[in-house]
Amino acid sequence: MGMDNKLFHGKTLAILSGGGDTPAINSSIEAVRNRASILGYKVYGIRQGWKGLLGDGQVIDLTCQPYNGLYGGTALNSSRTNPFSSKEGENRVEQILRNLERYGIDVLVTIGGDDTNGAAKKLYETEGIPVIGFPKTIDNDLRTRTMHRYGNQEIEAVVCPGFPSAARTVARLTSMLRTTTESHNRVMVMEVMGRDAGWLTATAAHGGADMVLVPECPMTRERKEFFFERVKELYMRNRKRCLMIAVSEGVRWHDEKTGKADVVYASSETDEYGHARLGGVSGVIAHEITARLGLDARAQVSGYYARSGECREYDRRLTSTLGDKVVDLLLRKAYGQMPVLKNVVPYNELEEFNTSSIDMGSIGNIPLPDAYYDKNLFHITDAYRDFLGMVMEPMHIMEFDYDFPVVLPKA
Ligand code: F6P
Repeated sequence: MGMDNKLFHGKTLAILSGGGDTPAINSSIEAVRNRASILGYKVYGIRQGWKGLLGDGQVIDLTCQPYNGLYGGTALNSSRTNPFSSKEGENRVEQILRNLERYGIDVLVTIGGDDTNGAAKKLYETEGIPVIGFPKTIDNDLRTRTMHRYGNQEIEAVVCPGFPSAARTVARLTSMLRTTTESHNRVMVMEVMGRDAGWLTATAAHGGADMVLVPECPMTRERKEFFFERVKELYMRNRKRCLMIAVSEGVRWHDEKTGKADVVYASSETDEYGHARLGGVSGVIAHEITARLGLDARAQVSGYYARSGECREYDRRLTSTLGDKVVDLLLRKAYGQMPVLKNVVPYNELEEFNTSSIDMGSIGNIPLPDAYYDKNLFHITDAYRDFLGMVMEPMHIMEFDYDFPVVLPKA
């Protein structure tokens, strides 16, 4: 078939990525670019999220360019620019409309979380811009209406591109930290990103964390008492006298001075969507463990490592599968929609028939479900283990189970 006969010949599709990066964005861009090209679209990339459609615009041609989807992050760059925030009276929506016209863009695919895709949906509804969303976040808190069947439970779960790769990294970092923690008989408190949701932090259990603290469970004064008892018990029970605790950056931790359980901020500055930067709760917890229990405790912030590195196998297959669904949405002109997985399945079962799409207006945030977290044990449940077993590759955790005989002095 000649170029001119292709369905969307003469049309242009542009892709942008907004919000925090993930290891799977380039893979998503490549998947959408390849499929849109087959349909006949010219494919553009918008630089730095919505920012690339402001002012004179920053647009590049991706049509026949080599693209490495295995490489993490986003080659289009990203920003947290909000089209609806207007600094000094500027009208960003007008600038976006003008640039879409100037560059001849017919359809926009927005790779993002609820901020980026929420803004895209609003632009579709208020200005009639044809948009298709594409999910993305390491936090895994974007509602995708993906069902997880576990025994006789039907759990509303989330599988967002970026999360499986980030989860693998968090689990791996946890297993690595164990050797230094054991060597010094310490309590290690590892802080993990994820904002107000504990999906990512809880993956540390897959890497051997003994306890997990998630934002869904505020650490009130009472819960803190219970937590310290459990830390002591688990530490003493461990033959190697050490303990690994994973804590979400967004955990609310009771402060004796204020009498309230609140998050710890790294900075009070907020981005254009109103989010302040979280960070530092692991240091507070480690300090209190030493003060209360006399145990040698340290804090380690895993931070941006979770977002870094290459796209892993599950994400690779997931972005391709969701890319196939984008083709369906484009053919049906089903704008204002976002492709999602219907059911949680292992990567070798990812097929287009297991996808559907949801209205971008109903995405929102979804916390770690109760079915995945055991509040009494401060640990994940078997249901979450089952979920992780499907979206993460099996991990080999090296162990050295020593128990040397003690030598007594001769006399
Ligand atoms: O939303 C993704 C995320 O990585 C959060 O887990 C984290 O709190 C935030 O982004 C950090 O954002 P920034 O890159 O702006 O520091």
